[in-house]
Amino acid sequence: MVAQDTDASNGQTQPNSDYDLSKPITSTQGMRQGLTSYGDAHFSLFLRKVFIKAMGYSEDALSRPIIGIINTYSSFNPCHANIPQLMEAVKRGVQFNGGLAMEFPTISIHESFASPTSMYLRNLMSMDTEEMIKAQPCDAVVLIGGCDKTTPAQLMGAISANKPVAHLVTGPMMPGSHRGQRVGACTDCRNNWAAFRAGTIDIEDIAAINDELAPTAGTCGVMGTASTMACILVALGMMPFAGASAPAVSAARLRIAEQTGRIAVSLASSTTLKPRALLTRSSFLNAITVLQATGGSTNAVVHLLAIAGRHPDVAGTIDLDTFDEVGRRTPLLVDLKPSGDNYMTDFHNSGGMLALFHELKPLLQLDAMTFTGRTLGEEMAAATLIQVPRNLSCIQPFDEPLYLASSLVVLRGNLAPGGAVMKASASKDRRLTRHSGKAVVFHNSADLAQRVDDPDLAVDADSVLVLQSIGPKGNPGMPEAGMIPIPRKLAAQGVQDMLRLSDGRMSGTAGGTIVLHISPESAELDSVLGILRDGDVITCDVNGRGLNVDLTQEEIAARIRERREAARASKERDPRRERGYRGLYQRSVLQAEFGADFDFLTANGPGEI
Ligand code: FES
Repeated sequence: MVAQDTDASNGQTQPNSDYDLSKPITSTQGMRQGLTSYGDAHFSLFLRKVFIKAMGYSEDALSRPIIGIINTYSSFNPCHANIPQLMEAVKRGVQFNGGLAMEFPTISIHESFASPTSMYLRNLMSMDTEEMIKAQPCDAVVLIGGCDKTTPAQLMGAISANKPVAHLVTGPMMPGSHRGQRVGACTDCRNNWAAFRAGTIDIEDIAAINDELAPTAGTCGVMGTASTMACILVALGMMPFAGASAPAVSAARLRIAEQTGRIAVSLASSTTLKPRALLTRSSFLNAITVLQATGGSTNAVVHLLAIAGRHPDVAGTIDLDTFDEVGRRTPLLVDLKPSGDNYMTDFHNSGGMLALFHELKPLLQLDAMTFTGRTLGEEMAAATLIQVPRNLSCIQPFDEPLYLASSLVVLRGNLAPGGAVMKASASKDRRLTRHSGKAVVFHNSADLAQRVDDPDLAVDADSVLVLQSIGPKGNPGMPEAGMIPIPRKLAAQGVQDMLRLSDGRMSGTAGGTIVLHISPESAELDSVLGILRDGDVITCDVNGRGLNVDLTQEEIAARIRERREAARASKERDPRRERGYRGLYQRSVLQAEFGADFDFLTANGPGEI
């Protein structure tokens, strides 16, 4: 006898093979996939349908491909304020094309509302994303993110879960205006704050600017980490061309959301467009090319290393040196803050990623696959490029770059044997890209805050400011404190840039001659950064890719020995013995050169790197 079930469309009972006990449930699609374990698969499916029907779904709806939509709306995340409208548009795209849209939440992280840092929570968000994609019956998933750490966390999780995914970012905010000048988060947040510290902006002005820096919903409107990661998602083939740059508050953004829903339905039946099949080393080379050509955020280096590290076939084929190699052949073409002068809206109006791809064509891997099932080259050929008059575009022709090559460089030397990163194109004083000076060492963020503006601090414009203990472990979450402020007494004299080093990160919206992500970080007992002292002579040579301290190997070894003995004698609690997520983080986080992922989340698992 065939089981019966009620079809909500007409209230009649209909035959339903789901309850036919003579047939095993073998489907890996729709509601029948990934059943909850009750020891009786038919009962599991029966019960699942009992509960989903409480939401009013019909058998017809439940027979459709299920498209999960990850909702990262949060009142604490203004960068995601437009997610409710985006979800409506995605659902439209899903349901016009025969799918069933099911939204569900994951963690949402905003830069300014996450303590100690958003980076501290990135891996937790990736775990949440991975496990919820795996646990729930989705045939494909739309990942809606935007603020800096959200998109890398989502892609890390999606690669590990390996179900088909389409990305949708919330999009950049519009710029504001102050005294007739455009301003926008967050390069102008930093520039104006530095001017306020230097006394060139008064308290009324800084308060008025505060009202204008983030005038709409959306992500920071310059080439910061969010915009960089959005461009990278297009380069990886996970998002439509205009998806990176259409303003958060535009109608175009909603149409992209609808398009993403449609694409997600087509992905649902694909086995060849799952993230691990779709993404190859070529995809990552395109991503790094875009990172270099846009003068993108240094944070993207850490994120891309973590994303690549999740992919069993790509892990180990992309490392810090790959970024430097790609950089040497890639010109900086996009004139956006912080390397240039413009905002994401200008990039969008200049043709955005499609226009940039056309300039970069000789450097791109055009056979890399995209989530539409066509290659990047095929997508470019199918899309119409609207030519923008040269004087109105912020995208330079390939042979007229803003910066010849290597906007991001990788430095190595006895101070950074595991590597360090600098956004050379954002240096405000290019003389400093080849510079030797005496170190002024701050032992941690608190020490910096206490002493940097001390009028008696022994520092001059040629000094090298060093900040220790802001690496992945040292100050859990590797804060964006790498843009060490210019000591006030020097700022008041007009000093705008100094050579600065740390094991931390810097906001993608910030600029200066700043060495970041020094590995191993100073919290590691054998770190050379960790044994630096005031007066040590440090040399940074961007062209030679060197970062060295003028100490002999014997001197370095002696200082490390001394430090180890002090650590042994110390009564301080080992941070790895902390409880909860903090303990998990301290025990598992990798160095920046490996993307600061957790060792047990990488494709190779713990202990394999
Ligand atoms: Fe969210 Fe800048 S704070 S993108």
